[in-house]
Amino acid sequence: MHDAAHIYLEGASMIVCVCNNISDREIRQAVDLGLSSMAELRRDLGVATCCGKCASCAKDVLHAHLESKTVVTELSFRSAQAA
Ligand code: FES
Repeated sequence: MHDAAHIYLEGASMIVCVCNNISDREIRQAVDLGLSSMAELRRDLGVATCCGKCASCAKDVLHAHLESKTVVTELSFRSAQAA
């Protein structure tokens, strides 16, 4: 039995959902492809569909990446306006 601890792999990737072997990198890639909610991560990747212990961490990864994309988009928009 595991406790959904974050298992670090080489390349600074970590397994977020141990039950389904889903890494933070895969969650970020899914966000880059358009996913934006836990419901979508559950549906498309199976995150948090077994023991559910990864839900909090998966949500953190999801929201952190959504926020970083927003900052990048805003910076890109401002750069485009300044040019
Ligand atoms: S770690 Fe069990 S459902 Fe994700």
